[in-house]
Amino acid sequence: MNRIDKLLASMTLDEKIGQLNMATAGQAVTGPIVGAPTTEAIRDGKVGSLLNLFGSEATARYQKLAVEQTRLAIPLLFCADVLHGHRTTFPIPLAEAGLFDPETWERTARAAAAEAAAEGIALTFAPMLDIARDPRWGRIAEGPGEDPRLGARFATAKVRGFQGADLAAPESIAATAKHFCAGGAAAAGREYAAVDVSERTLHEVYMPPFRAAVEAGCAAIMPAFNSVAGVPMTSNLRLLRDYLRRELRFDGAIISDYDAIAELLIHGVAADRAEAATLALKAGVDIDMVGGVYLAHLPEALARGLVDMDDIDAAVRRVLTLKQKLGLFDDPYRRAASAAHQMHPEDELSADVARRSITLLANHDNILPLAADLRRIAVIGPLADAPAEMLGPWSLAGDPNRCVTILRGLRAALPLCEIAYEPGVSSKGEEEGDIAAACALCAQAEVVILCVGETADMSGEAASRAAPGLPGRQRELAEAVLATGVPVVALISSGRPLMVSWLRDKARAMVATWFLGDFAGHAVADVLTGRFNPTGRLAVTWPREVGQIPIYHAEKPSSRPANPAEPFSSKYIDLPVEPLFPFGHGLSYTRVTLRNLRASRHEFSRGDSLEFEIDAVNESAIATEETIFLFAHDLVASTARPLLELKTWAKVTLAARQTKTVALTLSAESLRCLDDDFRPVLEPGEFDILVGLNADRRTLLTTRLRALPHGARES
Ligand code: GLC
Repeated sequence: MNRIDKLLASMTLDEKIGQLNMATAGQAVTGPIVGAPTTEAIRDGKVGSLLNLFGSEATARYQKLAVEQTRLAIPLLFCADVLHGHRTTFPIPLAEAGLFDPETWERTARAAAAEAAAEGIALTFAPMLDIARDPRWGRIAEGPGEDPRLGARFATAKVRGFQGADLAAPESIAATAKHFCAGGAAAAGREYAAVDVSERTLHEVYMPPFRAAVEAGCAAIMPAFNSVAGVPMTSNLRLLRDYLRRELRFDGAIISDYDAIAELLIHGVAADRAEAATLALKAGVDIDMVGGVYLAHLPEALARGLVDMDDIDAAVRRVLTLKQKLGLFDDPYRRAASAAHQMHPEDELSADVARRSITLLANHDNILPLAADLRRIAVIGPLADAPAEMLGPWSLAGDPNRCVTILRGLRAALPLCEIAYEPGVSSKGEEEGDIAAACALCAQAEVVILCVGETADMSGEAASRAAPGLPGRQRELAEAVLATGVPVVALISSGRPLMVSWLRDKARAMVATWFLGDFAGHAVADVLTGRFNPTGRLAVTWPREVGQIPIYHAEKPSSRPANPAEPFSSKYIDLPVEPLFPFGHGLSYTRVTLRNLRASRHEFSRGDSLEFEIDAVNESAIATEETIFLFAHDLVASTARPLLELKTWAKVTLAARQTKTVALTLSAESLRCLDDDFRPVLEPGEFDILVGLNADRRTLLTTRLRALPHGARES
């Protein structure tokens, strides 16, 4: 009998259920505080893990209680939302996804893990892997954007980064892939709302990042709050037990979201808390986050015969196994012991990722980079000098005092410039503000840097927006500043694409600065001055208007494709169907053109490798980096296939005027679709391979391949 089984055999029912109970330490980020853990509860073995408590001393104090004053000395598991950094804050995931760089995604997770572990955290509730195609949903900020392939590669990189090669290492923390699944498809983008997508869409769009996370060995998974097709994810037997555990063979811990087991009563699928506990436990949820439902009602459920001891033992075994894999039984104080770990060793990484996350959306007449001989700049807007906002949502342990604001970054980068500043209006209110003062400064300036957008709390959880435009009186400020006639460079700080099509053509340039973390100001200044050539690309389609939502590159064919000239086609009569900016969009200070797409073969079978080459030409006098996307379109299949499916991408650096041949490789298997049982199958027939710099079909180079019927020989 191994150590875990021996321990399990010695545990009382209360001690077993205690391991399934996660208490909050009063630092809850969301939802009702259901009661901070008392030392008695921990001494009585009624708490197995703690939420959002960190710090060497605090975690050691609670751990000492569990290890030295409980009957079985089972260590506590300290958990927190380390989403985009711990003490060092990196750009929000939606921005970082725009690097299209798995190696960097892994590095930032590794850096965050080291800092979090040094403060006693052993598990993070990250990566958040919700594919999202609706910018009304505030949590689009927290994830990898709209594409399943991008989401899958993001998942793999983040799990590897957080967990490292050895989960028991002092600087490794357990990753929790969340929120399984499809929370990003909440009705009308409204947080927590019901999700109703087809099972095919679940498998094609929302599950691939979680499959990748499981394949990468993620230690835990968190179900979404939402119901999917009427079944809450927290009690979804078919998707948790049958799909995750049995089909994907996920044997890690499933941790409920905050109070989500109790919320099964609100979903209307449980008549009482004993039933809620039963549904969740039977579905495979091991840990009850903060709800206290398992603690208070599993004994009753057991007594009523709703669950049996095997159900409880299976959950407890997975929790104990997770603690063992983390090395907690060998050394409960293993993390935080490395308090010698110098906080903020990765400042340069944070600054670098911030620069690379910036997305240059529009640059009319190449007003950017700013002319070196500029001497009078007006920095206007409520996001110019707002350190706390630059950290973005879920910056749990971030420090606004460390944050370099846009104004400070510009002043540091342009010491010879007279840089005047006026917020003009508040970030979100309707207060009077001083638009006149702002315009007066503009009149004295050669160029205006307009810093507008959302505050950090306007995206992330419980931050859906029905009209995701510039908040408060910011548009009024922007219109007044534009009316001065002084050239305007608009910087958009946000956790989502904002509806600013009116601004795109009035401002001389528009830059998505998202929420860039500690070094926002330096990163923005490096890009605006040209010290850094912007290379960020959109991980999400940017709509013109909210009425276009959902809008994304992987749409399936309509029966009558959009055609403005045709009265009866899939179009709006009051707006173009094209987005303001497509997936993958982003400008640089250089111009790269792609030529001469060629394929190694035009017929293929299962198991073949498909090689493509394309020539990338840097037509500019400065070096650059470009991201080249490869999409596929399965022309005829057993079900309608998306017009563009992202299959892979390549990043290429080009010296001034350099032409480089770029290779892109696909496996034949990557062109499979899902059959009626949602099993991947390579169907014979023709595929278009489309290659380009973003998802605007009109700009893509295309070549056609044919998948041979199984067993056929190439012609
Ligand atoms: C929240 C979020 C979840 C987070 C948890 C703990 O409700 O949905 O993503 O990990 O609570 O803070």
